[in-house]
Amino acid sequence: MHAVVLHVFGPAENLRYETVPDPVPGPGEVRVSVRAAGVHQIETAMREGLAIGPPLPELPAIFGGEVAGVVESVGPGVDEALVGTEVVTGHGRPGGYAELAVADVSSLHRIPSGLSHEAAVTMVVTGTTAVFLLDVAALTSGDVVLVTSAAGGIGRLVVQHARNVGATVVGAAGGPAKTAAVAELGADIAVDYNLPDWPDTVRKALDGRGVTAVVDGVEGDKGRAAFGLLAEGGRYITIGAASREDFLPTEKELKERGVSFTDALALLLERQDRSAEEARALAAAADGSLVPAFQTFPLSQAAAAHAALESRATTGKVVLVPDAHM
Ligand SMILES: NC(=O)c1ccc[n+]([C@@H]2O[C@H](COP(=O)([O-])OP(=O)(O)OC[C@H]3O[C@@H](n4cnc5c(N)ncnc54)[C@H](OP(=O)(O)O)[C@@H]3O)[C@@H](O)[C@H]2O)c1
Repeated sequence: MHAVVLHVFGPAENLRYETVPDPVPGPGEVRVSVRAAGVHQIETAMREGLAIGPPLPELPAIFGGEVAGVVESVGPGVDEALVGTEVVTGHGRPGGYAELAVADVSSLHRIPSGLSHEAAVTMVVTGTTAVFLLDVAALTSGDVVLVTSAAGGIGRLVVQHARNVGATVVGAAGGPAKTAAVAELGADIAVDYNLPDWPDTVRKALDGRGVTAVVDGVEGDKGRAAFGLLAEGGRYITIGAASREDFLPTEKELKERGVSFTDALALLLERQDRSAEEARALAAAADGSLVPAFQTFPLSQAAAAHAALESRATTGKVVLVPDAHM
């Protein structure tokens, strides 16, 4: 089969499209003919050899644990009737950047009817994270919520949900194209936070109303500036540091400002079983309450997909599609 292999940690071009042996499903596993594989932000750091998330794999390695496709064969002890089923998993054995991938049968969800492979793979981890984050944020119609990276995979789902519950939504994203995408999603205020005076733009647009919740996934300077816009009683909830610079306010700061800080990523990582949120995320996409956005790249162009993600050139989830299925 074809797969994308990393032999040496380093830049995106180190991801090589090669022919490798087919993976063999073990007991309790299935082999999926991949139609869509999710690319995760953290994989760009892992590819560089930065151990800021999961442990680094031994090389050579095939990245990718998020896979949607068709069960092509089963391992020992698995019901043959599963062959031909459309499935999605967020916990594939690493090896999703490939034409065939192996996953534990217990990790599979059937793809709800009407949902594309790309949409399903977008929802199974990114959507699940968004659902978890939204549970933590508990947004209501009374909230004025500021969402960072609002055109991103998680960000755009947060914007949609915030709109659905009737909150006032401020979506912040980098550059005019992403800001336009955030406005199209229905954010009340869409702001380009690459412009230095963006916090003032938000203050003016809110015309005296304070931000009650910040839902952040960028941290660094942008997270700090977003935090600075919170009104007394407001809450700051973070799901990660896409900027690769942590933002951690001090206890003193929180007390003086009368605001709260919640690390939703830490809470998520404590959760071993996310199957309920996975099912809810897939159902929300199937019933249209959350519309996932994704940008596809041919599997053979995985290096370009990583480069685009790193240079902040993508909107929505980055998904690899095996070349034969593009
Ligand atoms: N997807 C998941 O399942 C998941 C799970 C756990 C945690 N997280 C975390 O949640 C956050 C959002 O994840 P996502 O998957 O939805 O990603 P994403 O928002 O689709 O992509 C990351 C975005 O972060 C922004 N960004 C700001 N500074 C950046 C920098 N220096 N380098 C790269 N990007 C930068 C960019 O948007 P702008 O150009 O608009 O700034 C970029 O498009 C990340 O911190 C991620 O680690 C994600």
